[in-house]
Amino acid sequence: MDASPETPGVGPWPGGEAAWPRGADDALDPRYDVALLAEGDRRNVVDRYRYWTLEAIVADLDTRRHPFHVAIENWVHDLNIGSVVRTANAFAAAEVHIVGRRRWNRRGAMVTDRYQHVRHHPEVGDLLAWAADDGPDGGGGLPVIGIDNVPGSVPIEGYELPRACVLLFGQEQSGLTPQAQAACRDVLHITQFGSTRSLNAGAAAAIAMHAWITRHAGP
Ligand SMILES: C[S@@+](CC[C@H](N)C(=O)[O-])C[C@H]1O[C@@H](n2cnc3c(N)ncnc32)[C@H](O)[C@@H]1O
Repeated sequence: MDASPETPGVGPWPGGEAAWPRGADDALDPRYDVALLAEGDRRNVVDRYRYWTLEAIVADLDTRRHPFHVAIENWVHDLNIGSVVRTANAFAAAEVHIVGRRRWNRRGAMVTDRYQHVRHHPEVGDLLAWAADDGPDGGGGLPVIGIDNVPGSVPIEGYELPRACVLLFGQEQSGLTPQAQAACRDVLHITQFGSTRSLNAGAAAAIAMHAWITRHAGP
């Protein structure tokens, strides 16, 4: 079942159709995809999900997504959005929110956007209204935590990130808008030590999401 380095993924289910995973009634386990079982599964998914249908994978993820959301202000076409979606999928974020233009370059997502709930908001005010009305157990609002290195921001290192929250990132050139900053419970910066003004936005998002994971999720 191992893939060769030339062909990532796995080949057809070992043993052929006679060995396909079936229930007590001899019906095929509905999580499995007939075409993948027959032809192999070359998708970039963890082994646990090999041969599963897309729908079955999303349904399983939905049972164990983490309660942090990721949001990004998308004023111009930003290649980093795909990378943010991929990292959000890897860390099982509840949802990714994109503010502004609906169009974004999906290449960096490496197809992970199919497994990740992605919601669009026309303006940052729409995101903030959504966060205010949503929240743990259906109410109470989700705190929005800005992630940017701006005057008044506090270090993310040692900050008690809330379990349920929205981590809001700015775009590559200009960072978080003043309106977004004003609405955040706090704005956090990732402490830097070199000469560059900032990290790549996709890299900063990965670091911030992992800070949440370190605080709230077990291995
Ligand atoms: C290029 S930066 C924005 C500009 C930055 N505020 C500046 O002074 O140049 C783009 C986005 O990446 C994230 N980012 C980059 N470096 C960061 C850092 N050190 N701490 C927190 N966020 C950072 C933020 O979300 C930011 O909005």
